[in-house]
Amino acid sequence: MVNTEKFIANAIEEIKEKSCGKKVVMALSGGVDSSVCAEIARRAIGDRLVPIYVDTGLMRKGETERINMVFSGMNLLTIDAGKEFMDALKGVIDPEKKRKVIGEKFIRIFEREARKTGASYLLQGTIYPDIIESEGGIKSHHNVGGLPYDIDFEGIIEPLIDLYKDEVRDVAKALGLPEEIQRRMPFPGPGLAVRCIGEVTEEKVEVAREANFIVEDEIVEKYKPWQCFAAVIGLGTGVKGDVRLLGWIVAVRAVYSRDAMTADPVELPWDVLNRIASRITAEIPGASRVVYDITPKPPATIEYE
Ligand code: XMP
Repeated sequence: MVNTEKFIANAIEEIKEKSCGKKVVMALSGGVDSSVCAEIARRAIGDRLVPIYVDTGLMRKGETERINMVFSGMNLLTIDAGKEFMDALKGVIDPEKKRKVIGEKFIRIFEREARKTGASYLLQGTIYPDIIESEGGIKSHHNVGGLPYDIDFEGIIEPLIDLYKDEVRDVAKALGLPEEIQRRMPFPGPGLAVRCIGEVTEEKVEVAREANFIVEDEIVEKYKPWQCFAAVIGLGTGVKGDVRLLGWIVAVRAVYSRDAMTADPVELPWDVLNRIASRITAEIPGASRVVYDITPKPPATIEYE
């Protein structure tokens, strides 16, 4: 357990000292890590912080509007890059390649925009488990807050590097960040792309986005899982309005975990599952079938890809 007040004071000093009076750029994703980082840096260096939010088009429903609202007090740069990502993902099926393409694209866009700001330093919200997972080589984690170290800057500042996720949440609370951010579930850097098995298409992303919204709406408040989400996992036949339809199969996942290294499925009551299935198939025209994933990690990972 960290002493949050002390941690914040030290982090402010660290950012002040390491940035040498120059501009500092960061990738803000709206997750708890990058939000904590941004708020500490704002206190440390004020307007010398330039947060950049890259809208990949693979974000949750309403995310871009939400981020702009929450961080309206900072000079946030929002980059609308949905088309660039979709073009880069054409024909890409392999999950690892997908992550690489997205990670690479993100870096290039971020570098391009960061250069325009004239910043000398890069601030990152990397936390301790990010390092372990990357070193473990389970899959290439593209963390929106985790840009490569050879990126062209005078230096990199990572004030959260010794913290676990629950400690970051404590710091978020001590900083007075909105409760919704403090409790925010992790969201993978590659976004909804890893929740669409196979090639990423606009149609699939839209189904995944709507289904994720429904799943969060039905589960988050009541069960407070570590994570819950929906993924588009394939095509299956259904009947809607007496017509046979080849529609999307949506998998629902909700897990409890401490640090994402292991996870257990949430034992959702039948009526909740029923409501989720009814809403997904009724509210999303292209969805024909809903399944609930009860596999723990290991052997399954939390995400589908
Ligand atoms: P898995 O699927 O490996 O995920 O069990 C463990 C945790 O990490 C999140 N995750 C990611 N987070 N960039 C991230 O920032 C990524 O590329 C990425 N892939 C998975 C996942 O949502 C879960 O919380």
